Amino acid sequence: MTDTTPRYTGPERVLSGVQPTGRLHLGNYLGALKKFAALQDQGRECLYCVVNMHAMTMPHDPKELVATTRSIAAAYMAAGVDPNKSAIFAQSSVPEHAELAWVLNCVGRMGWLERMTQFKDKAGKDAERASVGLFTYPVLMAADILIYKATHVPVGDDQKQHLELARDIAARFNRDFYKDEIFFPQPDPLIEGPGARVMSLKDGTKKMSKSDPSDLSRLNLEDDADTIAKKIKKAKSDADVLPETAEGLNDRPEARNLVGIYAALNNQSVDEVLAEFGGQGFGVFKPKLADVAVEFFGDVSARYRELRDDQGTIDAVLKQGAEKAREIATPVMDEVRDLVGYWRAS
Ligand code: TYM
Repeated sequence: MTDTTPRYTGPERVLSGVQPTGRLHLGNYLGALKKFAALQDQGRECLYCVVNMHAMTMPHDPKELVATTRSIAAAYMAAGVDPNKSAIFAQSSVPEHAELAWVLNCVGRMGWLERMTQFKDKAGKDAERASVGLFTYPVLMAADILIYKATHVPVGDDQKQHLELARDIAARFNRDFYKDEIFFPQPDPLIEGPGARVMSLKDGTKKMSKSDPSDLSRLNLEDDADTIAKKIKKAKSDADVLPETAEGLNDRPEARNLVGIYAALNNQSVDEVLAEFGGQGFGVFKPKLADVAVEFFGDVSARYRELRDDQGTIDAVLKQGAEKAREIATPVMDEVRDLVGYWRAS
């Protein structure tokens, strides 16, 4: 029997974004930035935006938002994203994101959004006082992706649920406005790898996060060598030696996290790391991890600091990226306007 399911025949396209809030940490790097550069280097068409509109969903300082938007662009470049190959731009420079978000707000269902765990985490106990933007945040994220008909989205594990929502919204739009044919493709999340969920250095059951009040819980992209070495020395571990295989890390969240970080930084599998360090204690492993981290951070953070101070270059990159992005977004939004029945002068 021939398969009659419609298939998306448009071009493959990668899109992702990072919020300009707080300082970037190792989780952001391993979960997202490292993959951004790798996908670009595979010769794919890539768009990387700084999602400054998402950063408004929590209270923010306008002046600081301008500065952090630039610094995320600098971090993309420090991580190896080449502005001549990939578009680097600010979300707010392409108004089609916001325009499509409205359409998608009318496609998504309350029940879908009510299930989003990140809203529950961020809004906390006082959800009544959270901004409406925080609640509809995942719809804007779906618009970021679908306005470019992106097919692949590199993100960390914490964004999985948002990606599922984007897929549901795409399918529902196609059903309601495109006779079940494929206008918006189903975006595939690219999550796999040992860096997909980097945990806190102080608690292996909690995600490494910009908002953790303890700076010792994370390695920041801006930390110098001494700070990194100190944080790794102080990282929570346990009293056992490392096991010979990955299975032995079950029920040892801190050990699993530190081995995972080593593996991701060194481009090895967890089993390869354990083949080398199995049977050794943290007294041996931690200094080795510190060496790997210092070497890696030394390179990236030196590039980051240099680029961050060069405002002229960053602004030129963001402008060029926005032009590239708008070339794709404009015709898609035009089609959406017709599909949903917006009036236009004839
Ligand atoms: P944000 O800014 O919180 O995080 C940026 C990226 O870093 C990843 N990440 C992690 N990965 C591994 N371990 C961790 N501990 C860790 N912490 C963060 C995140 O998964 C993310 O990939 N909603 C998104 C931003 C966004 C977006 C988009 C992403 C808006 N629109 C469209 C992709 C496509 C966010 O808040 O990421």
